[in-house]
Amino acid sequence: MTQTLTLRRPDDWHLHLRDGAMLKAVLPESARHFARAIIMPNLVPPVVTAADATAYRDRILAALPEGSAFEPLMTLYLTEHTDPADLRAAAESGLIKAVKLYPAGATTNSHGGVRDLDKVRAVLEAMAELGLPLCIHGEVTMPEVDIFDREAVFIDTVLDPLRRTTPGLRVVMEHITTSEGVAYARAGGPDLAATITTHHLVINRNHILVGGIKPHYYCLPVAKREQHRLALREAATSGDARFFLGTDSAPHMDALKEHACGCAGCFTATNTLSILAEVFEQDGALGKLEAFTSLNGPAFYRLPVNEGTITLTKGDPVAYPSKIDTGEGQVTVFDPGFPLHWRVA
Ligand code: DOR
Ligand code: ZN
Repeated sequence: MTQTLTLRRPDDWHLHLRDGAMLKAVLPESARHFARAIIMPNLVPPVVTAADATAYRDRILAALPEGSAFEPLMTLYLTEHTDPADLRAAAESGLIKAVKLYPAGATTNSHGGVRDLDKVRAVLEAMAELGLPLCIHGEVTMPEVDIFDREAVFIDTVLDPLRRTTPGLRVVMEHITTSEGVAYARAGGPDLAATITTHHLVINRNHILVGGIKPHYYCLPVAKREQHRLALREAATSGDARFFLGTDSAPHMDALKEHACGCAGCFTATNTLSILAEVFEQDGALGKLEAFTSLNGPAFYRLPVNEGTITLTKGDPVAYPSKIDTGEGQVTVFDPGFPLHWRVA
């Protein structure tokens, strides 16, 4: 049985780092293991211009632990007022690696997002020409659509028409949670990929709701039925190049999670790799872990694979903190509900 596993150093293709005290507290949790991460722009106010992205990148670099080589891959938050020329310059200079589309109202700090895709047509055309990926939060927001159906409805009514009207647009379906998402990504061709989070490989909707409501398992898109979790497991562990890790590690202070109107987000940066190794081992797929964490993402983003490696060793259950202190409150680390045996050396 394998007791040691060496992987190319992994990347996280979807990460929330926030700002200020929270940034300072959570950044080391990702920088410890990951070489790079696609940094989500949903700050308050959001990162909408090249100047915003430059300033945010500088704040991230300033918050890095001494000696860390972690590279933040910046994104812009798409709005109906995004200037195609500003976006083009940001892409051509290498400052940004993607643009994020939040349908207005879909999730945390998405009210400045896009209501009418026709208003961003010029930006999407420029992105198709540049080969710049559009990272999409794929949920419709109409009140009449059930929250558990919002991803599948988005694929049929928004994503597929969008891709047909913008040929050549490169799209990442972010944090897919359904078998419909898996099937659509599989059928999509070379300009389509999907990220999968660590927590959606572990929990289904029962984990959130049975035996009392568990706010630390609430995120968006919300975890679905078991059959969907199994479809995600199959996709992630298959080695298929269209699927790669985007943790969507999304810290919120405990006081705002354990609340009458709790925030969405699971904070998984701390123990993600140990959880993934356990999950892939459970599925007899340890040999496919490196593709998911370290190879498929760079291939889609047309970036080199990292030079370095990390080594995981299997042994006694791994101890990890249950909370991270920010100085302004605590953040609960995701509890997978089973012991972890793979530790990053
Ligand atoms: O659970 C989530 N948390 N989903 C998102 O889409 C946003 C994120 C956040 O920023 O907290
Ligand atoms: Zn996210």
